[in-house]
Amino acid sequence: MIDPDVSKSWLRRALPVVLAHRWLLLTSLALSLIGLLVQVQIPDLVRIGIDDALVARTASLAKYAWLVAGFALAQGVINYLARRYLLKTAYEVEYDLRNIMYSHLVRMPFGFYDRVQTGELMSRSSSDIRAVQMYLTFGPSIIVQCTIAGFAFALMLSINVPLALVAMAAMPAVGILGWYARKAIFPVSWLIQSRLARVATVVDESVNGVRIVKAFAAEQRQLETLAHEADRVRWAYSREAWVRSWWSPTLENLPRLGLALVLLLGGLMAIDGRASIGTIVAFNSYVLMLQPPFRLLGMLIMLGQRAKASAQRIYEVLDTKSDIVDGAMTKKLNGDIEFDDVEFVYPLGTAALKGASFTVPRGQTVALVGRTASGKSTIARLLPRFYDVTGGAIRVDGHDVRSYRLAGLREQIGVVPDEPFLFSISIRDNIAYGRPSAELEDIRRAAEAAGAHEFIEGLPDGYDTVVGERGYTLSGGQRQRLAIARALLVNPPILILDDATSAVDVAVEQRIHDALKTLLSGRTTLIVAHRLSTIALAERVLLVEDGRIVADGTHEDLLTTEPRYAAVLAEMEPAS
Ligand SMILES: Nc1ncnc2c1ncn2[C@@H]1O[C@H](COP(=O)(O)OP(=O)(O)OP(=O)(O)O)[C@@H](O)[C@H]1O
Ligand SMILES: [Mg+2]
Repeated sequence: MIDPDVSKSWLRRALPVVLAHRWLLLTSLALSLIGLLVQVQIPDLVRIGIDDALVARTASLAKYAWLVAGFALAQGVINYLARRYLLKTAYEVEYDLRNIMYSHLVRMPFGFYDRVQTGELMSRSSSDIRAVQMYLTFGPSIIVQCTIAGFAFALMLSINVPLALVAMAAMPAVGILGWYARKAIFPVSWLIQSRLARVATVVDESVNGVRIVKAFAAEQRQLETLAHEADRVRWAYSREAWVRSWWSPTLENLPRLGLALVLLLGGLMAIDGRASIGTIVAFNSYVLMLQPPFRLLGMLIMLGQRAKASAQRIYEVLDTKSDIVDGAMTKKLNGDIEFDDVEFVYPLGTAALKGASFTVPRGQTVALVGRTASGKSTIARLLPRFYDVTGGAIRVDGHDVRSYRLAGLREQIGVVPDEPFLFSISIRDNIAYGRPSAELEDIRRAAEAAGAHEFIEGLPDGYDTVVGERGYTLSGGQRQRLAIARALLVNPPILILDDATSAVDVAVEQRIHDALKTLLSGRTTLIVAHRLSTIALAERVLLVEDGRIVADGTHEDLLTTEPRYAAVLAEMEPAS
């Protein structure tokens, strides 16, 4: 709903979001226009009242008093309604912007999240969206309010032409100064937004990493970092206040110059009998009426600057297209895997795979063994296309993984990562994340196979226990078992266990393995293994070293023929 054409101005790109709610917005604007039309009549009524009822005594004063009161009441009610509709529009626009941002973010590939900081994203999806929303909805309303100046001017012209011209004399100057103010304020608003994002990042890291912070007694240091960043924000804000303090009073007070001129010239004209007392009083009200719109105009300029800076930061995210292009083929996978001279360099520049080649026939269970940072997890991440290869090709059932529809491919490749993430929902829903419609019976079976059923039963609410943020109330090994259950429930033809049992003790691992053995049969399985007991699950071992497969064979074969394998095993933790 944001126009993807980057050559357009930020406002035109955001326009579709507002247009989606045009009726709501137009209702509000129409109401506030009517309110203004009513409002500008009031000084004129006062003028006629004074001139006819007080000075000439040809009409009843009470009649004008009632009229003024009635108009004021009507204006109040109409303005109230206009405001309600405006706020409703604002919430709708904000909701849409958030959705646009969120649905874009969930589509971004892993590589994107390697680059950006979460605090940055938080601020982009909260305060930046708010700033854009404010301008998009309040902007038109302010412009409508400013038309009161037009009405007032028209009425003034109809009453007394020279006096009207004098009252409006200061306005062009306001326009020109406003333009200069815009140029001065924009860079500071931009600075504020980006520094706020930096603060959000520090807060985010302090909260998420609070256990590490405390473990190293680094609260003070963390606070100092925060204070430092907050100080930079304060500097930017005070800088903005300083720039604004130059411009705002000037912009606001110029219309008052008109007031003085009206009094002077109007007074002289009244003495000459060319203007009535009522006219001077009415003009006085009109010039006062001109002030709020001009103050709002100043606000509009400020809002506009903030919104422009914020919009650019939002577009920066929205314009980052996912470099993972979806394929077209949908097919039930058999599970034949082929890595063909695969090279991969992470977006940040680490060359993780340097020509890895191997094949795994359907149904086979293969262990990936290698030293840390050799590229095992990278192999696991490339198969479901979390990243795309930078050289060579990965094929499943003889077709490049890039030719498959992404959703279909990933549904059929179950991945249990080394650091599983749990949502703050019930255990049952966590396990059923990939198959929300699953029956409790199936969920239980998956949990049993993953060695999780027992401890889940022991929890206060069993399967309905809600796990805390990131599942912190569970131990690392318990979380790993839930993640295995989650992958098994989907029953994918290809399963990747990336060191998925590293945090469970050997006895539990053995039980999981016993259950897995039946589940793994018929399924192509890659197991990243750090223990002999895990390797024992596999029919075949691939030795990974420095981004390449340097040996391939059964555990027993490699042990006797491959000294590098023996060396890697010797460094591993001893098996039970
Ligand atoms: N998201 C990432 N961005 C940039 N570089 C990365 C990223 N993930 C891993 N790397 C780098 O790629 C290389 C291979 O990492 P990988 O995670 O595949 O190793 P591994 O064999 O799984 O190691 P371990 O046994 O410790 O889990 C390492 O040099 C690592 O620093
Ligand atoms: Mg790893």
